[in-house]
Amino acid sequence: MTHTHDGAGRGPGTVSVHGVHAEPRRAGDPVVPPIVQSSTFYWGHPDDGALIYSRLGNNPNQRRVAEKVAALEGAEAAAVAGSGMGATAMTFLALVAPGDHIVASTYLYGATHKLLRDELPRRGVDVTFVDPYDVDALTAAITPRTRVLHLELPVNPTLRVFDPEPLVRAAHAGGVRVTCDATFASPLNFRPMDVGIDVVIHSATKYLGGHSDLIAGAVAGPAEVIAGVEEMMKLYGPALDPHAAWLLDRGLRTLEVRVERQNAHALELARWFEGRKGVAGVLYPGLPSHPDHGTAARLLKGFGGVLSVILEGGGAAADRFVGALELASAAPSLGGVETLVSQPRYTSHVALDPAAREVAGIPDGFVRISVGLENLDDLKADFAQALAAAA
Ligand SMILES: Cc1ncc(COP(=O)(O)O)c(C=O)c1O
Repeated sequence: MTHTHDGAGRGPGTVSVHGVHAEPRRAGDPVVPPIVQSSTFYWGHPDDGALIYSRLGNNPNQRRVAEKVAALEGAEAAAVAGSGMGATAMTFLALVAPGDHIVASTYLYGATHKLLRDELPRRGVDVTFVDPYDVDALTAAITPRTRVLHLELPVNPTLRVFDPEPLVRAAHAGGVRVTCDATFASPLNFRPMDVGIDVVIHSATKYLGGHSDLIAGAVAGPAEVIAGVEEMMKLYGPALDPHAAWLLDRGLRTLEVRVERQNAHALELARWFEGRKGVAGVLYPGLPSHPDHGTAARLLKGFGGVLSVILEGGGAAADRFVGALELASAAPSLGGVETLVSQPRYTSHVALDPAAREVAGIPDGFVRISVGLENLDDLKADFAQALAAAA
């Protein structure tokens, strides 16, 4: 068990359920903290204490989930936002100014890549993309103007797990902060701060929420960075609605049991798919055949709930496979209780031509599977009939 930073050394399951501050237990009070669906709170004078206003992210529901995320990540502080992209964008805006420079991994979620490639340069911030496996190239890309090194780990959809530690050392030697989108891992499988990464970003829409019923984001890191993120939240306004914060809090309570089961079932399914008729390859960091299995085994506490399969027969076979599924369903997200599949050529990597996708390790026929909480035998039966239909 990894101890959280909740001040009491309790484990992540306990923190996910109870939060950081003990709630008063007066007879008649609700066991579940209620939704405080209020935009504003009575306040008329500085003597009234901190001004609470829901756009500032300090509504009780927003605070409660932010405190949980900070404790789960082992961070000083955290802030929540209305989406993962909101959290990502506010983090960059907090850390860079016109004239600054960001070095980013080439392996990023599509919208994050576009934000860095097109949007931040429009605001006077230069961005250089570097292969995170090439430490020398990354070191060479750092200039006196570089403020941020941005990573994503594990990588979507190939589930590559590069070693972040030499990159963190190179960045810190240049006085550069390291940010990392660890959505695919959740704090249960990988805590970026344990390897020196400064700031962690999550699409809380995925594992933290866990039920595909909300859109949210979270950022955790040093208090001074989070204060900067909160300042940007105040100006740009992507606050998390109190009701969504309440739902996120509810989802968080089962984070550990969900992730443990998803880790176990994804590993089992990866083994099941490997070598099966009609399957050209399986990508899952828990398999010895995965190119980064060694790094993943050292770095991750669990290999995650997402695996990818490459079907013989290419795109046509993948279309037939996805179309035949009866239990798993096609939808572009992950981390929920239901098993979802997607083809990156239609979603995250639609902008690349087939040859470029092939180079990125995503040939046509590539299907990403986010494993939910269904019983394994039922999932295997569904995938078996879909493979037969694809053949
Ligand atoms: C790795 C990763 N980061 C960020 C995001 C963006 O999150 P959101 O949809 O909550 O804005 C996603 C969404 O799929 C993602 O997969």
